[in-house]
Amino acid sequence: RKTTKSEEEKSVSAVRIQSSAMECSDQITPHLMLAVGTAVIGSLQFGYNTGVINAPQSTIESFYNETWMNRFSEPISQSTLTALWSLSVAIFSVGGMFGSFSVGLFVTRFGRKNSMLMANVLVVVAAAFMGFSKLALSFEMLIIGRFVIGLYSGLSTGFVPMYVEEISPTSLRGAMGTLHQLGVVIGILLAQIFGIESIMGNASLWPLLLAFTLLPAALQCALLPICPESPRYLLIECNEESKARSILMKLRGSDDVGEDLQEMREESQQMRREKKVTIPELFRSPAYRQPLLVAVMLQLSQQLSGINAVFYYSTGIFQKAGVSQPVYATIGTGVVNTAFTVVSLFVVERVGRRPLHLTGLMGMSVSAVCLTVAMALLDQLPWMSYLSIAAIFSFVAFFEIGPGPIPWFIIAELFSQGPRPAAIAVAGFSNWSSNFLVGMCFPYIEQLCGPYVFIIFTVLLLGFFVFTYFKVPETKGRTFDEIAAGFRQSAGHGADKYSAAEEFNTLRGDDPDL
Ligand code: GLC
Repeated sequence: RKTTKSEEEKSVSAVRIQSSAMECSDQITPHLMLAVGTAVIGSLQFGYNTGVINAPQSTIESFYNETWMNRFSEPISQSTLTALWSLSVAIFSVGGMFGSFSVGLFVTRFGRKNSMLMANVLVVVAAAFMGFSKLALSFEMLIIGRFVIGLYSGLSTGFVPMYVEEISPTSLRGAMGTLHQLGVVIGILLAQIFGIESIMGNASLWPLLLAFTLLPAALQCALLPICPESPRYLLIECNEESKARSILMKLRGSDDVGEDLQEMREESQQMRREKKVTIPELFRSPAYRQPLLVAVMLQLSQQLSGINAVFYYSTGIFQKAGVSQPVYATIGTGVVNTAFTVVSLFVVERVGRRPLHLTGLMGMSVSAVCLTVAMALLDQLPWMSYLSIAAIFSFVAFFEIGPGPIPWFIIAELFSQGPRPAAIAVAGFSNWSSNFLVGMCFPYIEQLCGPYVFIIFTVLLLGFFVFTYFKVPETKGRTFDEIAAGFRQSAGHGADKYSAAEEFNTLRGDDPDL
């Protein structure tokens, strides 16, 4: 039987996919996994402290009330309590803003690995403040502790994706970058589970729940010393090629690291031509305008999607939606969240960043509309509470398909070594400020808009969808240098004429997997 042309093509592409899968699994060496696994403990900490104040809200609020009674001999007013609680939640992101903005100060001076190690001092300080706040009858201590752990988390959201992206082979960068988000979501899930009343979310054990963050810090401090420094940092920043080579050989599990080294040298030469880029220069130079806009908008799309309205306040949202066991529904969001991050992990290198981000944003806006309908009709139709659970689960699932993991690791891909630290600082700052905005304002806007609060997120999500469609290029499978060259070219041709969709089509021709 003669095989038709399309059958032949199919079998050729099947062989290609198989061999690229084998290549990928070859590249996942124990050294790489140890380094990535240790780094993402920082992501886990960020997630844990994002999720930890959700379930025990009313228990800790009672403590605020008792403390208030103790001091002023009268119960706390509802408005003061709402203000104090939103502050306790959102001050975490103020810490995050400062932390993420300081990333550049550390990584270039101390290296990636030592920066991660040093940051753990902040965890010890934060755990002490939060863990002893009850004993000291001081909600101020809890708030300070939340700020300090926010500082740590802000630093981590810069350090971890940077380190992971720099040590991973190009073909695995997306998948490895998604491990940062996997760390975050596992942290959130752990916090939600530990926050159940019968575990630590009760009147006597909540300080332990908050101070628990000390354990992952101890583990990270024990493991980091046996992890390698980023070879890209050693070669490009410290000019230590032989060290970089021997680390690369371990990370890749092969002596054949010439191609990787060559790519780093090219980036290094490019960087010498570029000079070191400071934050003001990043804003001034037309060459960086386009990637910077893309990086910042992607961060905003992640936070202004409303995801943290769910992760900070879902227990309250479920309560209002008529769900009888809101804490368990909250854990459900954590499980869905984790499951879909795993899905993203497996598809991100095959499907690419752009289609996943677009699918995620569109899915989230449809889910937000369903949630609004469910909340609005709850009084007439009590079964609508099930629709709200389903809508929140699908909101979270679509988030993790794209808007969750991609913005974090794509910043490192959009910039070459020279501007990378400054860009990560600016993008991180945008992420954390919008995180703060949602954390602080959601309870107030919810009081104002009632069941229609998620419509605001729908409108924003659609706006980000349009932006992504027209402006975000595909970065999958391209070296850092190629991506930067793409942006330089488009800046040369006039930034306005730049079309991500066009670039995407060109790439399509090159890539059989797309
Ligand atoms: C992302 C966001 C974070 C959010 C989390 C939810 O990492 O940056 O703010 O809480 O996803 O999974």
